[in-house]
Amino acid sequence: MLLLALESSCDETSVAVVRNGAEVLSNLISSQVDLHAVYGGVVPELASRRHLEVINPLVAQALADAGVKPGQLEGVAATRGPGLIGALLVGLSFAKAYAYALGVPMIGVHHIEGHILAIQLERQVEFPFLAAAVSGGHTHLFRVDGIGRYRLLGRTVDDAAGEAFDKVAKMLGLGYPGGPIIDRLAKSGDDGGIVFPRPLLKKDNFDFSFSGMKTAVLNYLHGLENRPDDQHIAQVACAFQTAVVDVLTRKIIRAARAEGLCRIVVAGGVACNSGLRATLTRLAAEKGLEAIFPSPGLCADNAAMLAVAGDYYLSRGQRSGLDLNAVSSWPLEQVRG
Ligand code: KG4
Ligand code: ZN
Repeated sequence: MLLLALESSCDETSVAVVRNGAEVLSNLISSQVDLHAVYGGVVPELASRRHLEVINPLVAQALADAGVKPGQLEGVAATRGPGLIGALLVGLSFAKAYAYALGVPMIGVHHIEGHILAIQLERQVEFPFLAAAVSGGHTHLFRVDGIGRYRLLGRTVDDAAGEAFDKVAKMLGLGYPGGPIIDRLAKSGDDGGIVFPRPLLKKDNFDFSFSGMKTAVLNYLHGLENRPDDQHIAQVACAFQTAVVDVLTRKIIRAARAEGLCRIVVAGGVACNSGLRATLTRLAAEKGLEAIFPSPGLCADNAAMLAVAGDYYLSRGQRSGLDLNAVSSWPLEQVRG
């Protein structure tokens, strides 16, 4: 099928044209980072308004780049949730209207399902596998037995990993979004001997907690007599990233082994993190497991990732009605293929 895909769950508007859930003809992203940076985080109302401004021209551009006319499209896929409700409504309402006007089917897709299946646009990863969805809103481990077959193994009990990166960066006065900035500072590998706690690491389950780690950074900063200089800030960033990567890596590997899974797919914005990519790849290999990361462009929010599940469901005759509503929270386990 030739699909138009739309993503608008947070602060990126993205439109893609994808053939057969595999061949990406265009995948445009209009980022709102500059709009929200001054506030140190995403302002939902501003996000919705910006999605509304850019979605029409972005669809036109994505079609032009793909060399596709609207009449050639055979279906539309859009993020239904989870995410910011106003932001989601822009993409989903557009998708419904566009599909209705063209007389083609539409399907609402789970944002995390999109992230987890994004890798299939680059290489076919055989099921089953362990999926680690690590983003601004999620730190969830799933057993994936096929498209639409997800079992939750563990999740964060408080903040998501990306959220913790962003909040710690804010404490350090580093700007937004914090993940990529901390990643860059941590590349020096110099943590100055600072060690932050590894919450829940000893617990015999696959849950995470990043809130305590964030508080540990805050307490450390409050305990300093002077404002830290740039080198000291970089050391704190490095120590924080090391702690996050340590917890993520060990629990991911433990979960994969407990489930007897030899493939690990890491998805979501935090999967861009160079420390996580290097450490998990190395430690997984030592245990005879394969850690698989999409290229960074497909880890962050993008519309092409929705087309894998979108194409699969639409090709099997599944479709959403025009009464489909966006949902801000939606457990992935409730998605059924
Ligand atoms: O998947 P995503 O683009 O949006 C959500 O669905 O949340 O993830 C965004 C999150 C942000 O918290 C951002 O700081 C984080 O991913 N992120 C990173 C890196 N790049 C993006 N975190 C750590 N290291 C990175 N290189
Ligand atoms: Zn995302």
